[in-house]
Amino acid sequence: MKTEHQRTALITGANKGIGKEIARQLGQRGFAVFIGARDITKGREAAEELCQQGYEATFIQLDVTDPVSIKNAYGTFSQKAEHLDVLINNAGILEDHGEDILKLNPELLDRTLKSNVTGPIIVTQDFLPFLKKSPTGGRIINVSSGAGALNDMSTYAPAYSISKTALNAVTRQFAGALRSENIAVNCVDPGWVRTDMGGSGASRPVEKGAETIVWLATEASQSETGKFWHDKQECAW
Ligand SMILES: NC(=O)c1ccc[n+]([C@@H]2O[C@H](COP(=O)([O-])OP(=O)(O)OC[C@H]3O[C@@H](n4cnc5c(N)ncnc54)[C@H](OP(=O)(O)O)[C@@H]3O)[C@@H](O)[C@H]2O)c1
Repeated sequence: MKTEHQRTALITGANKGIGKEIARQLGQRGFAVFIGARDITKGREAAEELCQQGYEATFIQLDVTDPVSIKNAYGTFSQKAEHLDVLINNAGILEDHGEDILKLNPELLDRTLKSNVTGPIIVTQDFLPFLKKSPTGGRIINVSSGAGALNDMSTYAPAYSISKTALNAVTRQFAGALRSENIAVNCVDPGWVRTDMGGSGASRPVEKGAETIVWLATEASQSETGKFWHDKQECAW
């Protein structure tokens, strides 16, 4: 069991990409990190890699589209920790293939909303009892995207963009509902990052993509809540 002084973080979709880098950076800062991943082999490998680097990392199987998997993850977490300081809803999918909304496949839209919107809502609801026990005040960070900002929305990737706009709204809703619990809820545009999703031509390394998320999880004021961030600056919705 963790002592109540060790900070804990659960990151969904942490077996690769930005999620894995967030876990590494939080591990470096002394957090006990919980690697949420839907695939057992990939999740275990990521946690082992971080342990070999000297960080405290534990794999938790968690498919954000499966409410039973989320409940089981809650059960596993409860055997290993007493509180959760930071929840990072990072898992996400981008399945649009260049079509604009005139040709948007409704099944693709459903899948995208389930992963990128409903998943974070259920994970947040289910892990709230542990976030409420955080001695420092809980922090929830939703990994959004510039594609979700309405202020300069184009026709790019309609299902994905709509899902990230909705995730921003989810952020505002939880921020309002949890203000009296001292739980801060924010969302972040990590920029265009070199991962399987972002592709090899993206402009940013994962270290930069994770930077603002880790800052919100650690150094940012607890009073910052209900905001959309990019490079540690509040940005337009
Ligand atoms: N890369 C960019 O340029 C960029 C830009 C803006 C925002 N973002 C956001 O950043 C976040 C991380 O993206 P990334 O670039 O690191 O992409 P990535 O390398 O494709 O990683 C996505 C992660 O999400 C996981 N995932 C997907 N569906 C899941 C589910 N149902 N349950 C649990 N895990 C699931 C994946 O697991 P598997 O390995 O099992 O598939 C993987 O671990 C996403 O929310 C994305 O929208 C990325």
